[in-house]
Amino acid sequence: MRIRKLREDDIGNIVAMIHDVMGPDDAKKALQDIRISLDKHIYKFEEFYVLEVDSEIVAAGGFWSLKYDPDIARLDWFVVPRKHQRRGFGRMLMKHIVSRAKMLKLRLILAETSDGQQYKAAREFLMKNSFKKAAVIKNYWNDGSSAVYFIRRLKK
Ligand SMILES: CC(C)(COP(=O)(O)OP(=O)(O)OC[C@H]1O[C@@H](n2cnc3c(N)ncnc32)[C@H](O)[C@@H]1OP(=O)(O)O)[C@@H](O)C(=O)NCCC(=O)NCCS
Repeated sequence: MRIRKLREDDIGNIVAMIHDVMGPDDAKKALQDIRISLDKHIYKFEEFYVLEVDSEIVAAGGFWSLKYDPDIARLDWFVVPRKHQRRGFGRMLMKHIVSRAKMLKLRLILAETSDGQQYKAAREFLMKNSFKKAAVIKNYWNDGSSAVYFIRRLKK
């Protein structure tokens, strides 16, 4: 088992994972985002990792911040393929992301999600990983669901 940085040849695989767990619309958005992320100069930092077991990707996710953001990170696409869920892989990758954010001396990690039923696992997962619900914006997403923001504060 190892955690390594994203390689360009992982992108197809990760977009397929997002298609599997979140659907085609999110897969399209992720493909665009991950391509943009290859153009590093718009970011203050951008890091994306995969957790591999026997050369198979069992979790993927990262974080980023734009040039003029304060000392915070935004959680990027974070996904565990359906067949590997509830085996602790998400938790392991999150632990790595949190330790990287601490090394960068960031104050908090911000995660954006939804109050839709489809995102229940994400909300539970974030709370289990010491994120706290910080804000809700009603009728935010195109389907009328609310945006729910979670933060995990990091000691400096
Ligand atoms: C959310 C997600 C990343 C969790 O990954 P995972 O590897 O299955 O999570 P873990 O096995 O590390 O679970 C850690 C804890 O999170 C909570 N959790 C995870 N999935 C859950 C679910 N479906 N329902 C309720 N709680 C859940 C549990 O407390 C779990 O601990 P437990 O298994 O001991 O009860 C995964 O379900 C996923 O990819 N979902 C779709 C994509 C998504 O919503 N991404 C946004 C994530 S912020």
